[in-house]
Amino acid sequence: RNKSFVRIVEVGARDGLQNIPTNIPTAVKVGLINRLSETGLKSIEVTSFVSPKWVPQMADNTRVFQEIIKKKLISYPVLVPNLKGLEEAIKVGAKEIAVFLSASEGLSRKNINCTIDESIVTVKTVITKAKESNLKIRGYISCTVGCPYDGYIKPASVVKVAEALLSYGCYEISLGDTIGVGTRISVEKMLDEVLIIASPDKLAIHCHDTYGQALVNVYTALEKGLTVVDSSVTGLGGCPYAKGATGNVATGDLVYMLHGLGAETGVDLNKLIEAGRFISDYLERPPASRVNNAMFSK
Ligand code: HMG
Ligand code: MG
Repeated sequence: RNKSFVRIVEVGARDGLQNIPTNIPTAVKVGLINRLSETGLKSIEVTSFVSPKWVPQMADNTRVFQEIIKKKLISYPVLVPNLKGLEEAIKVGAKEIAVFLSASEGLSRKNINCTIDESIVTVKTVITKAKESNLKIRGYISCTVGCPYDGYIKPASVVKVAEALLSYGCYEISLGDTIGVGTRISVEKMLDEVLIIASPDKLAIHCHDTYGQALVNVYTALEKGLTVVDSSVTGLGGCPYAKGATGNVATGDLVYMLHGLGAETGVDLNKLIEAGRFISDYLERPPASRVNNAMFSK
């Protein structure tokens, strides 16, 4: 693989929209994803098959997945919490799923209503079944440096769940700073520990930007050899069950930084800005992205 290529996993349609309290029409979600598919992104998370009682915004998951135009070289993963979600994802024809668990007990309880150990058991059964259907499986770990309920999270807690996810067969683990509290030092410490049990090509970084540290933390991960970064168009996002979580690092800001570093992303920044304009216009809110704002006003 080209060493300077960074794969971006666009999570705006899932992480970005799940936290928005007003119901967004399916057509708007489909319009956003179709525009993202034209930007050169290779991986676009579409929706989640979670309980609609818990996250009503994702209740139209099946329709969104069915109605988007799927391009050949793009992967369209969906988030799955349990066997019920997996069944729905398989029924609709998903080829890639993402499972998720937390490195902190507090968020695990609030977000998926169980302990870490219980979630590991659930995720194992989901992965086992998903493999039988030849699905690609990505794993998320939340609260890898801090939790809104438990505070600082020790790297050892992250290592424990990362080892489990990798041994069950996730092709990649995305390390989430769910509430954006990480700093250069805490992210580096966490990565150093995880890199003892996993090679950099098995890891991705997923930074929310609550404290404005996301680009620095992404850069820290790149320095450690990671080449996969999650981001969200216009910086939309947040987990509804993680108090204080704001959006992910904005894809526009990330692409601008990566191209500035001489890395390739395959993403056309102008097209990405247009996709961002589409969702910002619909939501009637300015993007949480410096690059989007700078390029909008041109
Ligand atoms: P529960 O209430 O403990 O489980 O929720 P349950 O089995 O009792 O289910 C409750 C109801 O939901 C039942 O319906 C189930 O059938 C239904 P009822 O019998 O009452 O009519 N149900 C489902 N319906 C559709 N699809 C399903 C499904 N599962 C159950 N898959 C559960 C447990 C895990 C289901 C719930 O807590 C849940 O859905 N949580 C998801 C919360 C969520 O989506 N959070 C955001 C995503 S994670 C994130 O954003 C972090 C990330 O970005 C990384 C980072 O930033 O760190 C990935
Ligand atoms: Mg997230």
